[in-house]
Amino acid sequence: MVYTFDAVKHQNKPISIKPNLMKKNLLNLRAKFKLFAPVLFLSAMLFSCSSEKSESYADQYKKEQAANEAAAPAEEAVEDDGKGIGPVKSVEVGADIDQALAANGKSLFEGKCSACHQLSDQKIVGPGLAGVTERRKPEWLMNMIINPEEMTKKDPEAKKLLAEHLTQMTNQNVNEQDARALLEFLRQNDKAN
Ligand code: HEC
Repeated sequence: MVYTFDAVKHQNKPISIKPNLMKKNLLNLRAKFKLFAPVLFLSAMLFSCSSEKSESYADQYKKEQAANEAAAPAEEAVEDDGKGIGPVKSVEVGADIDQALAANGKSLFEGKCSACHQLSDQKIVGPGLAGVTERRKPEWLMNMIINPEEMTKKDPEAKKLLAEHLTQMTNQNVNEQDARALLEFLRQNDKAN
């Protein structure tokens, strides 16, 4: 009698306990969810924020690329063509020396240039001018003679010269015609040597 009662009791126990246990587990899950929900929410927010950020970085990069591409042709436009900076864009020089023009240049040189320049490779205040027509384009030489201040500020080769000689070549008020004569004289000087 006792035995059967116990058995029934025993059998009943798991039946009555099981739903309780399930309930408990459910409650546990719910409690856990309540605990983790904010964490989940926050991490979702963070994820969306960070992906938004990386998108804007990508946009920034694209914009920079576009700006660089737009700037590139402008850089090409100011690329040094070796002709210097000034009014002279192109000069025709003959195969032979124009002797009359060179003679005119010689007297100009003696009046305006020989205080600072020798016709050898010896420096006085400015560099010796021997071989200068082989080192420079004729346009560069005429622009240097007409426009020395701007040349030493902006032209890469003239800038180097100023850094080397530490004296600014002064503007001798030479017009284009006289600069052409001086160029012919410098050409004659280089052909003779
Ligand atoms: C006050 C001194 C002075 C006078 C005058 C002067 N120069 Fe210069 N010249 C210089 C100096 C210094 C340089 C180097 C650049 C600089 O420092 O300004 C130079 C550079 C040059 C160069 C470039 C030389 C090279 O190696 O590329 C030429 C060409 C030149 N001068 C021609 C002339 C002519 C032509 C005259 C006369 C119309 C003249 N200079 C008058 C001082 C002078």
